[in-house]
Amino acid sequence: MSVDMPSPLLGGRLPHLLYGGDYNPEQWPEEVWAEDVVLMREAGVNLVCVGIFSWARLEPTPGTFEFGWLDRVLDLLHGGGMSVALATATASPPPWMAHRHPESLPQLADGTRLWQGGRQQYCPSSPVYREHAVRLVEALARRYGDHPAVVAWHAGNEYGCHVPACWCDVSAAAFRNWLRARYQTLEELNRSWGTDFWSQRYGDWEEVIPPRTAPTYPNPGQQLDFRRFCSDALLECLTAERDVLHRLTPELPVTTNLMGPYEHLDYWRWAEELDFCSHDSYPDPADPGSYVDAAMAQDLIRSLRGGDPWLLMEQTPGRVNWRRRNVAKRPGMMRRWSYQALARGADGTLFFQWRASRAGAEKFHSAMVPHGPLDRSRTWDEVRQLGSELSGLDAVIGTRVEATAAILVDWPSWWALELPSKPSGDVRLLEQIGDWYRALHRCGVTVDFVRAGADLSRYALVVVPNLYMVERETATRLESFVEGGGTLAVGFFSGIVDGFDQIHLGGYPAPLRRLLGVMVEDFRPLAEGEQVGLRFGDGPVAATGSLWSEIVHADGADVLATYAEGELAGLPAITRRGGAYYVSTRLDEGGLLGMVLALCERAGVRGPLPVPPEVEAVVRSGEGRRILFLLNHGGAETPVAVGEGAEVLIGTPADGETITLEPGGVSVIRLT
Ligand code: GAL
Repeated sequence: MSVDMPSPLLGGRLPHLLYGGDYNPEQWPEEVWAEDVVLMREAGVNLVCVGIFSWARLEPTPGTFEFGWLDRVLDLLHGGGMSVALATATASPPPWMAHRHPESLPQLADGTRLWQGGRQQYCPSSPVYREHAVRLVEALARRYGDHPAVVAWHAGNEYGCHVPACWCDVSAAAFRNWLRARYQTLEELNRSWGTDFWSQRYGDWEEVIPPRTAPTYPNPGQQLDFRRFCSDALLECLTAERDVLHRLTPELPVTTNLMGPYEHLDYWRWAEELDFCSHDSYPDPADPGSYVDAAMAQDLIRSLRGGDPWLLMEQTPGRVNWRRRNVAKRPGMMRRWSYQALARGADGTLFFQWRASRAGAEKFHSAMVPHGPLDRSRTWDEVRQLGSELSGLDAVIGTRVEATAAILVDWPSWWALELPSKPSGDVRLLEQIGDWYRALHRCGVTVDFVRAGADLSRYALVVVPNLYMVERETATRLESFVEGGGTLAVGFFSGIVDGFDQIHLGGYPAPLRRLLGVMVEDFRPLAEGEQVGLRFGDGPVAATGSLWSEIVHADGADVLATYAEGELAGLPAITRRGGAYYVSTRLDEGGLLGMVLALCERAGVRGPLPVPPEVEAVVRSGEGRRILFLLNHGGAETPVAVGEGAEVLIGTPADGETITLEPGGVSVIRLT
């Protein structure tokens, strides 16, 4: 296979798909390290992430660095042909930091301190943490920046996974600084937060604090800004490290492992600061639908940097240790799910972790190398098989996923939507996005994600499951998308507030009224378990809504479906104005599927080829290549017509124009 497109992830340093895992040699005596490298070669590993939790070993006392062991590890790895994504080791400060600087520990809204003894025990705004982190990163960059094994930097680790927010006094001061930069004057802050409500007016900056546990709902503007501030505070930790690394080792890319649709961090902004995105994926093997959620997360990660290839930084070869019941991946599942990441734009797949720990909280988490004998390990067999397969897939590298449909997601709107004291506290953005994504997935359609305010012209279909907060620019973009012939679907309770969580007056959803041709008079959230029938035209009840309904007036829109019963009987439920559709309730699965089929039909959006629902078909293309991935998540052998001239890279050879997918099987096919 040609090797003319090295992965852009590592600046072309590795011509193969990346394969490997987190490597934590400090947990093992040195004799084991040599064996590790031999086994890595056997498994087809070419990249390991080293040092993620090594701070206490690298800097056993403040300012004293011990690099000897890491020198030996890196030399050994290099000698064995391994490349290294070297961690900045700042994910978890050593106990000495908490001991000497207790003010660096994070605090919850109710004042509870989070102590050392687990991991990630730092306040994101702590100058102590940040100064020590940057000093360590600088020392690492100077020592290893030109080590031949090091091909990338792995900053931190899953920023915010345990401590996405901190309410301590240090954070309070940082929050005030952030607010001063945003509002300049206290008057402006008072106006934006609407502090004339409940006598909340601030007369002095020092009175402003994070939204700590209060007698009742803290001010929504304050809460929303705190969410923004928390995402920014952690991002500053990342960029402080990144800046050092870019200055000292400009040729090495910097990444960090993101966590799919992670609520607390505005990943659109985070991705801008990375050289490439990495992602950790832990779908639950016990949940038959979890592979669809995994697909959604991966589509999001790919989209964060406009479709650039990304890296699956972590998945488990078998089982995790942090669910109540940790069901293992069944035979073939790890392989199939690895290919799913590749199908959705990854240029490599890594595991947590290389060798299963003997001690510590993760000793029951599967790893590439298990505790027991290798010759009796299914995991090890699967790990080696995958490594060997991936080494023959250079053609995939650098190609990009084809998608003509997109879902819009916006973090500040998500935060604002889920603040308390809403008409319904049960409207959760991820559920709404998940509904639409699953319906599109069911139709075989590959989906990108787009941010609010993005140019949408490359898509034929855009879905906005919910956009509670709409700013003018976004409304304009949506309008020009529809004017340009695009098909748009907008879900309920969208277009309600501005960027300060203040209502857009003049009839909901004021900024979208012209586009959608509707005016929403008021909201009618449904009680738990309540459903309302929907009728299309004069037909019978053909779908149901739950969770939410609205009193909708059609102001120029055609009414596609009406509520069939109750107070809203006969009033619009689903409308359409030109290419802009509005759905005022949460449709049941069948109803939404019908809607999505109609939208796809209108937009001319379809999957790469007809496949049954449990088969995923995704195409990556570029540089004259088109590569089709077929993943059979079902239990039946499935023939798929792939056309003439297809070259089967992985899977059962084609019989004429048809290939046969085994139950749970995978095919990778070069179409051109
Ligand atoms: C991730 C984390 C890893 C490891 C893994 C276990 O969240 O980045 O360090 O803890 O989970 O599944």
